[in-house]
Amino acid sequence: MAKTRHIYLKKLYDPSVNKQQWIAHQSEERYLLYGGAYGGGKTAMGINEGIALRVEYPGNRGFMGCRDGTDFKRNAFNQLMKFLPPELYAPPRGVHHQSDMYIKLINGSVIYYGGLGNDAEAVKKISNMPELGWFFIDQAEEITENQFMLLDGRLRLVLSGIKYRALLTANPDPGWLRTRFISEARPNHRYIPALPKDNPFLPSNYEEILKKNFTKDMARRMLEGDWDVEGIDQLIPYPDIRDAIKRDMPAKGSTVAGLDVAEFGGAKTVFIARQGNKVIDIVSWFHQDTEFSAGTVAELIRKHKLVILNIDSIGKGGEVVVLLKNDYPCVRGVNVSEQASQPDRYINKRAEFYGKLAKRFEMGEIDIPDHTALGAELVNLHKKYPRARLQIESKEKMRARGVPSPDFADALMLAFASDGIKQEASMYIRGRRVG
Ligand SMILES: Nc1ncnc2c1ncn2[C@@H]1O[C@H](COP(=O)(O)OP(=O)(O)O)[C@@H](O)[C@H]1O
Ligand SMILES: [Mg+2]
Repeated sequence: MAKTRHIYLKKLYDPSVNKQQWIAHQSEERYLLYGGAYGGGKTAMGINEGIALRVEYPGNRGFMGCRDGTDFKRNAFNQLMKFLPPELYAPPRGVHHQSDMYIKLINGSVIYYGGLGNDAEAVKKISNMPELGWFFIDQAEEITENQFMLLDGRLRLVLSGIKYRALLTANPDPGWLRTRFISEARPNHRYIPALPKDNPFLPSNYEEILKKNFTKDMARRMLEGDWDVEGIDQLIPYPDIRDAIKRDMPAKGSTVAGLDVAEFGGAKTVFIARQGNKVIDIVSWFHQDTEFSAGTVAELIRKHKLVILNIDSIGKGGEVVVLLKNDYPCVRGVNVSEQASQPDRYINKRAEFYGKLAKRFEMGEIDIPDHTALGAELVNLHKKYPRARLQIESKEKMRARGVPSPDFADALMLAFASDGIKQEASMYIRGRRVG
């Protein structure tokens, strides 16, 4: 680290105590991604590298921000105020213009800061920026690659000996950052991973707090900062699926089934029956017409003496429900796009039933046969948590990503879709209504 850099290193910020921060400050590449776990000291590094660049090159100009202005104020801006020594921008030569959001240092360097806003706002804002020597985007996973490239285009401030720097920090997130910096590792790009254990300034019970407040996967993601931690966006981790295949549970109690009816000629209609926690039958056929499917299903109802048959009632499934409902009271049309019974936890019923299915896998309360298509589809299910509610990737999105429509997985989900089943189960014995 160049000697002049120590000018800004007050007692408050000493990157030599954090090996990764130290490496980040010494890196020479134009594009730097300091990415990984929460609390790894990423934001602090970006702020202080920005400060260093201003101190080192009098007259340098930079932009520091993130997508959301409020987020920026709450975190990065506070750290900027914490780390930037006030004497560096003391009047009369220096100024902090809060409403125009810039700070001018006594050596003539300027830093612009703030939120970029939505895409249209960000594009406009970036296009209006002056020529820059560096920028720092905190939580860069929230901006688009296009915005990043526009910002990169602003790096053309003419200053003798200047080293242009594009500094990015991010939490683990698949997307353009991972492609650019990790999987493709493009030239002049440097990725430095951050872990909370690198940062000595965190409270000692930080890990404990994370583990208590987040799900196993989320806590692991935050602690290990791994951009490829198994199960991050996978609904059911692969080891849980493998265990469910190996497990042997007794077939006990009444038999319940799920049916996912194909929408197109080439797609498959799938029927899955379970007795207690054990899947006992998987039958699939190419959907021909609704009458054919209804006839096949009627036979399966009789064969298994079904107590409940949940049929996805959106689209063609609804027609099958109509054909069977009068003769077979076990048939229930289920509209998975309806509101969940716990709408604060699940985006819709589909998310609720899948969430509970995933829980069964986690708790070891399911036994499935070694069925290639079913296993492959379960592995491919992805989840998200928009506004803290569970959401499962839609069939359309899965098709767009090139994975097969999860027809077997959906039938399994329907076979275990349990809301109200206990109540109704007591009303039917061996397919006959008893009360
Ligand atoms: N080298 C350092 N010296 C002093 N405080 C630091 C240092 N590195 C990080 N911190 C402080 O630790 C806390 C967490 O770091 P932060 O940069 O916000 O982590 P991240 O952005 O990776 O989540 C912040 O309060 C930050 O100011
Ligand atoms: Mg941060």
